[in-house]
Amino acid sequence: MNIGIMATGGIAKKMADTINLMDEVTLYAVASRSLEKANAFATEYGAEKAYGSYDELLSDSKVDLVYIATPHHTHKDLMLECINKGKNILCEKAFTINKKEAEEVFVAAKAKGVLVAEAIWTRYMPSLYLIKSLMTKIGTITSISANLGYKISQVERINDPKMGGGALLDLGVYPINFALMVHPEILSGISGLCVKAESGVDIKDSISLRFSDGVMATLFTDATTTTNRRGYIYGTEGFIEVENINCPEEIRLYDSSRVPQLLETYKITVKTGYEFELLSCKKAIEEGLLECPEMPHAETLRVMSLLDALRHAWNVKLAEEA
Ligand SMILES: NC(=O)c1ccc[n+]([C@@H]2O[C@H](COP(=O)([O-])OP(=O)(O)OC[C@H]3O[C@@H](n4cnc5c(N)ncnc54)[C@H](OP(=O)(O)O)[C@@H]3O)[C@@H](O)[C@H]2O)c1
Repeated sequence: MNIGIMATGGIAKKMADTINLMDEVTLYAVASRSLEKANAFATEYGAEKAYGSYDELLSDSKVDLVYIATPHHTHKDLMLECINKGKNILCEKAFTINKKEAEEVFVAAKAKGVLVAEAIWTRYMPSLYLIKSLMTKIGTITSISANLGYKISQVERINDPKMGGGALLDLGVYPINFALMVHPEILSGISGLCVKAESGVDIKDSISLRFSDGVMATLFTDATTTTNRRGYIYGTEGFIEVENINCPEEIRLYDSSRVPQLLETYKITVKTGYEFELLSCKKAIEEGLLECPEMPHAETLRVMSLLDALRHAWNVKLAEEA
């Protein structure tokens, strides 16, 4: 399967490295707003084609999947352009700025019959199956906690509301997705607090989710600090500790003693972690599916509506909302 990468920034480079470690997919083309950057990227990562505009990439009939690696505020329009040209899409998170934009994309994709997948890589990782199997050993699930923080508050696209900035859309999506994927129940309550940057975007968020079965998730994100990135799933008979919810490295099972005892440790190995979303897209395209089972459109919309609700409560307006 030939991949065309749209953009040449940080995550585009990580994806190019990933593709080059895989046999199942090929780094065929790269497109940038600058031909110079596209040429440099193609030379460094070995892409056959380099385009100096995103549009040219979409006119290349050999591109089977477009990977969109641009800032959030550009995702909707770029996806609509891909759909218009009949291209399958893997688009970075945050999928769009809000739920309304995501719905517009899904309606257009369905009408055109192309695959659209959200590149929320943690959803596609096989470590989720290990976590789910360990969850059968800890009794009834009672609560969940997770955090993710990196020092990125000074990065332009994080600090600028016009570019869809803020901690929630960039980092907060990970603890939220962690809770929703390990415990896919209906939500009965959402609340949160944030601290804002001078630009008006949220920069530290504390989020509580209450599920209809009484399970509580307590989540936080911080764009000013590196946090321990751990996730916990607590049950009546023990708990599970996930080292690095951004790309699980180790998963530990504890009992429910007053001083919890470590029962088992599982090391997780991946190429980079981004390979799984590519494999899922490839399989979905081969099977004629328009969405990936690991992250169905309904689930992207569920996350987007949650993000909308939190930002509405905080009065954080982004991109065209601002
Ligand atoms: N899944 C993950 O682990 C992960 C990690 C990091 C980021 N991401 C996501 O990937 C996206 C990009 O993040 P990044 O860290 O790679 O950003 P970045 O380093 O700033 O790169 C973004 C690239 O997008 C292109 N672009 C198109 N329109 C742009 C605009 N108006 N302003 C700036 N750049 C524009 C540029 O490429 P050209 O100049 O070549 O056109 C730029 O190099 C974000 O949505 C982010 O949430 C995901």
